Amino acid sequence: MNKYLKFRIYLPPFTMTEKNTKQDVRQFYDQIGWLQEEDGNYQNARYEDLRPVSREYISKTRLRVNKHLLPSGRFLLDAGSGPVQYPEYLTYSEGYDYRVCADISITALQEAKKRLGEHGLCVVADVANLPFAPDVFDGIVSMHTVHHLPMEEHRAAYGELYRVLGIDKKAVVVNGWGAPLLMQIAKPFIRVAKYIRFKRSGKEFSLIKKKKSAQEADVGTYIKKTSASWLKNELSDLTEIEIFAWRSVNTHFLRTFVHTFTGGKFFLKVLLWKEDLFTHFFGRHGQYPMIVFKKK
Ligand SMILES: C[S@@+](CC[C@H](N)C(=O)[O-])C[C@H]1O[C@@H](n2cnc3c(N)ncnc32)[C@H](O)[C@@H]1O
Repeated sequence: MNKYLKFRIYLPPFTMTEKNTKQDVRQFYDQIGWLQEEDGNYQNARYEDLRPVSREYISKTRLRVNKHLLPSGRFLLDAGSGPVQYPEYLTYSEGYDYRVCADISITALQEAKKRLGEHGLCVVADVANLPFAPDVFDGIVSMHTVHHLPMEEHRAAYGELYRVLGIDKKAVVVNGWGAPLLMQIAKPFIRVAKYIRFKRSGKEFSLIKKKKSAQEADVGTYIKKTSASWLKNELSDLTEIEIFAWRSVNTHFLRTFVHTFTGGKFFLKVLLWKEDLFTHFFGRHGQYPMIVFKKK
């Protein structure tokens, strides 16, 4: 086993201010988020669009991470790995000897271990206080995790990812922006669509307030999202970051507008193509960017 990696059950020493937030988040994932529901999916998958009409788009956006990671190495760090819940996520560490999963939820890691077997090394750890020596990872991925930290700790989390990343190696961080331009434009339409029921047969519109769906009624846990300019400014003394498109529309948008009868599949094909073509624009102004950095 590599001497630089300390694999142990590491319960992060939370300070009083961060204690409640992190403990709440941990409790949420241990007791709700990573429990399997009747359909075999985790509760957390409620926030994802799992419908067949969006499947290809969702899958290809997840695979985009591979474009930026080095294809092989000894250790890939997955910071806030969860249970490595989707098959596309497994591809990130295919060329690596080990995938090191770090998460504050023990339930997440128990599930990840089942999925990864010997390839997975699991450590209970806080992404803002990583228990690893500097420069040890050949690649880092962190998906939808930094946003669970209090705002004042986002910088610390990026600092930790940067510290443990090897020289000339690359890291990819995916998180949602708070109020990205494209979703702000779509918001009023999404609101209106909530009230209109479209009856296909009679082409009849009726202004009836729909009931909240199970997904909308979910409370979830603490999330603090930021903006591209805030992040660039915050990390300016740490490293240069590049922002690429991961997925520019959120689940609300997909569930509202993307259906077979609205030509949803075609729309998503075009969107994928546009996101690749204008990746920096969609990365900055769409819902989910990939933040990529290299250690020099
Ligand atoms: C939304 S889930 C994402 C999981 C996985 N990366 C994915 O994309 O499916 C967020 C994960 O981050 C973990 N997490 C939250 N705060 C964390 C922290 N401070 N340090 C490490 N992991 C954390 C949670 O326990 C949870 O497993």
